[in-house]
Amino acid sequence: MSKPILEYHSISKRFGGVQALCDVSFSVNKGDIHGLIGENGAGKSTLIKITGGIYRKDTGEMNWEGVPVEVNSPTDARRLGISIVHQELPLCDNLTIAQNVFMGQTITKSFGRPDWNLMEDKTVEIFEQMGQEVNPRQLIGDCSVAMKQLTAVAHALNSRSRFIIMDEPTAALTPGEVETLFEVLRKLKAEGTTILFVSHILSEIMTITDRITVLRNGRHVETKDTADTSIPEIIQMMVGSIPIATKKSHPARKEEVVLRVKNLNKASLGLKDINFVLNKQEILGIAGIQGAGRTELATCLFGVNPADSGIIELEGEPIDIQNPRQAIEHGIGYLTEDRRNLGIFWEMSVWQNMSTVMFHMKVKIPRADKAGLDRGRMIRVNIPNSLQPSMRLA
Ligand SMILES: Nc1ncnc2c1ncn2[C@@H]1O[C@H](COP(=O)(O)OP(=O)(O)OP(=O)(O)O)[C@@H](O)[C@H]1O
Ligand SMILES: [Mg+2]
Repeated sequence: MSKPILEYHSISKRFGGVQALCDVSFSVNKGDIHGLIGENGAGKSTLIKITGGIYRKDTGEMNWEGVPVEVNSPTDARRLGISIVHQELPLCDNLTIAQNVFMGQTITKSFGRPDWNLMEDKTVEIFEQMGQEVNPRQLIGDCSVAMKQLTAVAHALNSRSRFIIMDEPTAALTPGEVETLFEVLRKLKAEGTTILFVSHILSEIMTITDRITVLRNGRHVETKDTADTSIPEIIQMMVGSIPIATKKSHPARKEEVVLRVKNLNKASLGLKDINFVLNKQEILGIAGIQGAGRTELATCLFGVNPADSGIIELEGEPIDIQNPRQAIEHGIGYLTEDRRNLGIFWEMSVWQNMSTVMFHMKVKIPRADKAGLDRGRMIRVNIPNSLQPSMRLA
């Protein structure tokens, strides 16, 4: 059995009235892919940030290769060889892959000029180490999320990291890209790199990890070999107990159609002949694999991408939804999956955000691209001058 590279002893951390971590002890073995899981708010990110020197623990100890260490800053973490690949990747879109890989560690030649040829060659070498091909001159802004993710890993490897923490790395990847990332992780593991892998997706945890640690409400529940556990057992550890499934007993209600969608089509989003009925007091789930058109259907109903043809009936009356304003006027609300980029106006205050739909404002929403969403451009909002920002979100 391999030796621990990092041991946590009784780590605790409190934020005001919230005990984010309480007496957490476990160890991560050298060369392992170690899964860290737990429900929202379990304390995973807090532990990661303490490991990476972003937060300071209140009490407890960390041992690095058997020796007690204090990690008081990201620089301390980097010195030990610890890197975090955050979910929100800190890359610069207007720089190339090589420039991002060498960010903060530029190689210079005479008179301090950057040696881009050398850095580009080295970028290719690092990607080769991960078993991937790369064009080091490609702009990061033009890369897929998967390539950005690999660039962040390459940056970590370039900093000679031996312990890479990945916070929900697969959240925005397609199944094929997840498989590529897993191949890279297996390759890094074979070369002796240790990986702490945070994910909510239990099937991924079961596939890629050697051991897992479960946190619940800031406490350590269990650390186990992945081969000795199962998804039901992990769920039990995460939630404490599994609610016993009982037969659904919805109160008897008269079926009253609220929304009826007939032969809805939107060719550019791949929506074809969509038909469904939503009754009053019903929760209707729309299921499908990634790319099946779930988000596209929602944006179509909300008027972000108005339908080409078809009928939308609200309480028996056909309605015309050509833009979100019309949808809102019909009492339809939409909570986007991409809350950070599309759900709020960062530059505005909480109360302004809450009241955006109440005032009659000119909201210019760009027509969506093929994927249904145009993430690149700003949404322009004209708000009355009388509304002064108080607490800002940004
Ligand atoms: N900077 C902070 N200030 C105040 N409370 C915080 C802060 N960071 C985390 N918390 C609180 O600490 C607890 C643990 O949060 P943490 O972000 O570590 O959980 P998590 O397991 O990463 O959850 P998720 O799966 O949602 O990312 C939560 O109750 C959270 O609200
Ligand atoms: Mg988190």
